[in-house]
Amino acid sequence: MNRLNQHSIVDQIIDLFENHGGSLYFGEQVTETEHALQAAHLAEKSGASPEMIAGALLHDIGHLLHGLGEDIAEHGVDGKHEDIGAQWLEGHFPAKVLDCIRLHVDAKRYLTATEPGYLEDLSEASKRSLELQGGPFTSTEVMEFEARESNYKAAIQVRRWDDEAKIVGLKVPPASHYKSLLESLLIG
Ligand SMILES: [Fe+2]
Repeated sequence: MNRLNQHSIVDQIIDLFENHGGSLYFGEQVTETEHALQAAHLAEKSGASPEMIAGALLHDIGHLLHGLGEDIAEHGVDGKHEDIGAQWLEGHFPAKVLDCIRLHVDAKRYLTATEPGYLEDLSEASKRSLELQGGPFTSTEVMEFEARESNYKAAIQVRRWDDEAKIVGLKVPPASHYKSLLESLLIG
């Protein structure tokens, strides 16, 4: 992977947010891009590491890649956007960033199983997609997740920003604000 390709992945990410993230995010009242930028902003505001900020920014990038649009839950399709996003970025970003993306759906399944009140507080769209994603983890799945995924705590933290990042009209920095942060994380 040469530096030219490495830089172009960041340009592609910025382009996706600037030009392809305008549809409404999954039954919510903010766009895909607004949702991603709010999640990243929440991470940055809380003093999170660059990996975590990137994970928050990119957790739903798979939605912008597979082109299934905002309402796949309505149609009973689980697009597996978390795998699509993580695979697209593999080889460009460190494992922690990829794991935050890959595991953010499982993190919801984990939290619905382990944290009283978490399920009730989810948005209606998020509750609907949970069913398609397999529902709350069983107690065995909770233990397996903790044992198998060394970055599961990071993914759970990203999940919390994800859940909050649905505020209509919130002013946050644009995608280009994260360009140098993303470039600083590039590997290879
Ligand atoms: Fe999200």
